[in-house]
Formats: sequence, structure tokens, C-alpha cells
Amino acid sequence: MRLLVVAVIVTSFSALAQESVFPSKEERKMARLLEPQQVTAEVKAFLKLKMKAHNKDMRDLVLAVATLKYDEAKRFAQGIANSPRLADEATPAPAFKTLQDALKKDATAVVEACEKKDPDALAASFDSMMATCMSCHNAYLVPLREEKAAKKPAK
Ligand code: HEC
Repeated sequence: MRLLVVAVIVTSFSALAQESVFPSKEERKMARLLEPQQVTAEVKAFLKLKMKAHNKDMRDLVLAVATLKYDEAKRFAQGIANSPRLADEATPAPAFKTLQDALKKDATAVVEACEKKDPDALAASFDSMMATCMSCHNAYLVPLREEKAAKKPAK
């Protein structure tokens, strides 16, 4: 399962590189090389709330995109684009800032595709946004999950 996810992310990144979702070549390279990292307790608390909001917007967004309900999709993508971000100095690593900025950019591209009612642009921008969610989770959420699993007493 882990391998599959990594493969998906690698493929998505080659697509991302072509579409220039990351602002510069340097940043793209850094995001691609992102290693699993730990986050502090404060960052965790902030992210718990932020991700709760993303969770809801994303579930609704998936269905709105799938059924090409542009107005609804636009509203949920705006929710993701406007969600508060960690201050630069609070981000656990430069790559985290890149990814949180990339998410705003991606969600804004989804909003723009909805405004144009352009199904191809909607599919492409949604795909990029999903790859950004996955990249950040691969680096920051997966290690947290593994840490939690390791703490559980063996059955
Ligand atoms: C910049 C990094 C970053 C981006 C981008 C990001 N996340 Fe997260 N997400 C995290 C981190 C870190 C956690 C773990 C927080 C914790 O539990 O302490 C998390 C956790 C979550 C969780 C809870 C999962 C669980 O099993 O606990 C959901 C749901 C979630 N994110 C949804 C999303 C969605 C949807 C997107 C894209 C629209 C997204 N996130 C983009 C960093 C990110």
C-alpha cells in the first residue's frame, strides 16, 4: 500500500512539474525531495483544525467536481483557498511553506476553472490540488501515524 502511494505521488509530481504548480524550479525540486519530518505540538494543534475544514470542503468538492456543479465546486475550492495558513516562521520546514502555498494556488486554479466552466481545466486543477494534499501528508502525516502506531501496545 505504501509503495503504491509513493508511486502515485511520483507520477503526480511529474505531472506537476509540467504544469508548474510549484512557483520555481528550486521549490519544485525541494518539494519532490521532501523527506518525512516531525511537527511541533503547536503546529499539530493548528493543523488539526485546518485539516478538519479541508476534510469537509474536500469531500463536498469531490462530488461537485465529479458532477460538474461549477458553482458548488467553486464555493468549496474557495473554502480551501481561503483557509488560514501557518505563519512563515511557524512552518516546520521550507518545504511545508511551499506546499501550503501550493495548496492555495491549486485551490485558486480550481476556482478559476469553475468560473470559466471549463471541464478540462477543472480536472487538471483538481488533480494538482489532490497531489499537493498527498505530498504534504506523505511527508508530515504518515510519520505521525507511524509514531502513533508504534506507541500502541502490541496485541
Ligand atoms: C502543507 C501541508 C499539508 C497540506 C497541503 C494538506 N495537509 Fe492535511 N494534514 C497535514 C498534517 C501535518 C496532518 C496531520 C495533523 C495531525 O493530526 O497532527 C494532516 C491531516 C489531515 C487530515 C486528518 C487525517 C488523519 O488521519 O488524521 C485530513 C482529513 C486532511 N489532512 C485533509 C487534507 C486535504 C483534503 C488537503 C488538500 C485539500 C490537505 N489535507 C492538505 C498537512 C497538510
